[in-house]
Amino acid sequence: MARNRLEPQIAAAGVSSEAAQEMRASADARVARAQADYDLTRGGIYDLEKKLEADIPDTERELLEDRLNFARAERARLLQAHSQTHKWTNNDWATPGVQAQIAVIESVQGDDPAERALLDGQIVTCHEVRAGSNTITQWVLDNGVIGYHKIFSGLDDDLAEDFGQDEAVQPIHEVAAWHLAKGMGEPWRGLVPPCVLREIDGEQGSFAAKAPGANYQDFRATDNWQAAAFFDALIGQQDRHGGNWLVDSRMLTLIDHGFTFACPGDYCNKADIQSARKHDPLSEEERAVLERLVASPDLLGVRHMLAPDRADALLARAQQMLDTGEIPKAGPY
Ligand SMILES: Nc1ncnc2c1ncn2[C@@H]1O[C@H](COP(=O)(O)OP(=O)(O)O)[C@@H](O)[C@H]1O
Ligand SMILES: [Mg+2]
Repeated sequence: MARNRLEPQIAAAGVSSEAAQEMRASADARVARAQADYDLTRGGIYDLEKKLEADIPDTERELLEDRLNFARAERARLLQAHSQTHKWTNNDWATPGVQAQIAVIESVQGDDPAERALLDGQIVTCHEVRAGSNTITQWVLDNGVIGYHKIFSGLDDDLAEDFGQDEAVQPIHEVAAWHLAKGMGEPWRGLVPPCVLREIDGEQGSFAAKAPGANYQDFRATDNWQAAAFFDALIGQQDRHGGNWLVDSRMLTLIDHGFTFACPGDYCNKADIQSARKHDPLSEEERAVLERLVASPDLLGVRHMLAPDRADALLARAQQMLDTGEIPKAGPY
């Protein structure tokens, strides 16, 4: 359970201040453990493999190989422990890397009232959405929240491969896009619907709050489309077409962040909003948020949610935008 998610519970339970301190410390420890596990397994293996590709002396190579073996053994141990608490870990999509990312997200989510509502509401009704390419279900909760569930087991794998994804990461990217927007603050925060990972009806997936508006409307009439262009450029959005935004009067909402956090060379299908802004210079506000992102060791909270190469690519895009001072031309990345 995330740290801030505890506060309303502590208040409601009326426990002593010592007990409240203990609960906070244990929540902090859980987040720290999930991130350390990620660093040792997913991130650590990535770093070590990269170092081993270089021309290095034999003694150093032996040391790195020992560390790599240790990281792999540790990963196997963690997966074993994880599979005892989550039945979905037996699915093909639940690769070791994806499981490490899910563990990080589950340890930090819930620190926002909108995330809490998505996590806590009980299911009332559901129906399947027939629009995009993945299996999406709309769920109505007893607290009035309506959300869209994109399940790991319902992804169109062939399409994902065309976008450079060889792992089931679309639901993870949905959540990471929200956390990044939240960390950046307004006006970007308001562009992305709050989103969590939640297991519903035995299926693990992203669960995003329903946003108002209609697909395929002209975004240029909205007040926040320039902010959306900047956000898409930053996150490496590969599929921004009219089915993936909503217009409600003068407000634009970006939905579908499955194909984002692109790596260098990845394909870009559509970048309609980014292309409309062309090579605009960055505003002061955009510069400031990029400075904040590149100075943030955990990339405003998303480094450990993403595959390590995708986190590196996000940082590189931010740095490139700062260096050039403008919105880059839309993909390929
Ligand atoms: N948060 C949301 N708010 C409102 N509508 C949504 C939301 N998420 C999805 N939808 C609806 O479901 C459709 C499919 O969702 P999307 O995430 O684009 O799936 P796919 O990955 O299959 O393209 C969208 O075009 C939209 O109409
Ligand atoms: Mg879509």
